[in-house]
Amino acid sequence: MANAFRMSIRRFATTAARAASAATEAPTPNAYGIRVSKAQGVVDQLTGAIGNTPLIRLRHLSEQTGCNVLGKSEFQNPGGSVKDRAALYVVKDAEERGLLKAGGTVVEGTAGNTGIGLAHVCRARGYKLVIYMPNTQSQGKIDLLRLLGAEVYPVPAVAWENPENYNWQAKRHAERLLKEDPEHGAVWTNQFDNIANRRAHIETTGPEIWAQTDGKIDAFTCATGTGGTLAGTTRYLKDVSGGRVKSFLADPPGSVLFSYVSSGGQLNERKGSSITEGIGQGRVTDNLKNEVNELDGALQISDDKTIAMVYRCLDEEGLYLGASSALNVVAAKEVAEKLGPNHTVVTMLCDGAYRYADRLFSDKWLRSKGLRDAIPEHLQKYIVLE
Ligand SMILES: Cc1ncc(COP(=O)(O)O)c(C=O)c1O
Repeated sequence: MANAFRMSIRRFATTAARAASAATEAPTPNAYGIRVSKAQGVVDQLTGAIGNTPLIRLRHLSEQTGCNVLGKSEFQNPGGSVKDRAALYVVKDAEERGLLKAGGTVVEGTAGNTGIGLAHVCRARGYKLVIYMPNTQSQGKIDLLRLLGAEVYPVPAVAWENPENYNWQAKRHAERLLKEDPEHGAVWTNQFDNIANRRAHIETTGPEIWAQTDGKIDAFTCATGTGGTLAGTTRYLKDVSGGRVKSFLADPPGSVLFSYVSSGGQLNERKGSSITEGIGQGRVTDNLKNEVNELDGALQISDDKTIAMVYRCLDEEGLYLGASSALNVVAAKEVAEKLGPNHTVVTMLCDGAYRYADRLFSDKWLRSKGLRDAIPEHLQKYIVLE
């Protein structure tokens, strides 16, 4: 009896010691990373890897403003930009509407990231891709799209109103293909006015930001090309917060939207031009029209501020960003300053600087644009290209 009692005491002591040692054991290294990996699991093909990008706290700007200034790292998408989200949604929309069948063709007018996003999505899902673009674009862009499997047509750069504009040529190409081969289908995905683009951000970007900040976001800001990102993310954040989250347009010179938003829809003034690519608009697109009157304001960001922020983000945060992202970061800083300390402001880091390096870090190019002096002296060491 005494023996049995002693044994059970010993067993109890051993179990307790094991439990105590488990409690004091060092946490698994990379526990956070493992939790994220577990939640993500295995995704279905490349398209499953689009979105769910990290939200990065910009440490220096957060300290400077007393706010949390956060950037969504869209350059981590498989095609390298925020436009992967829109590309996936316009293709999914065409599939859902029965316009595309296996072996069918996607046709789009785009000079940049949407084409790259579409090229990846089309390869992954078994579609052909035809791209129309203005013939003012660099050979590098044409080559990249071709090596990703797209058929590319550079056409004379004419205004939107002209039937020979690259977008209308893309539309007619899709109509022609559909007539010739209705069995496989063909679609003009029409990123500017196809609201499946905005839906991508209502269903993915907005909810991700809300979840990542645990609902503690006060303001969102970003620039617009098609307007899909700003409109869709604004829609979700306003709805989920009962209108509490503020949203601001960030606009480069040369776009009409700054004057449109700040005049309450009265003006359509286009002043100046900008070095930024993929952003700035001459009209209110269908993607933007629902939310454009719900915005809480607009900021116009000069190229001087944008280029300085490209260099500052690289130096302070290690972030190698394209100009539209840098413009967004300037806007986020200005919104944070407007709101005052202890607010959380989110923006988009749309793509990296890789495709723009020969300009953004070239002494000659910066001088030709009158931007060299905009870069603070201590950051001029990054101007390493001739
Ligand atoms: C680099 C870059 N930033 C921002 C945008 C704007 O995004 P959205 O078309 O959703 O307005 C684009 C669009 O092409 C882009 O290429």
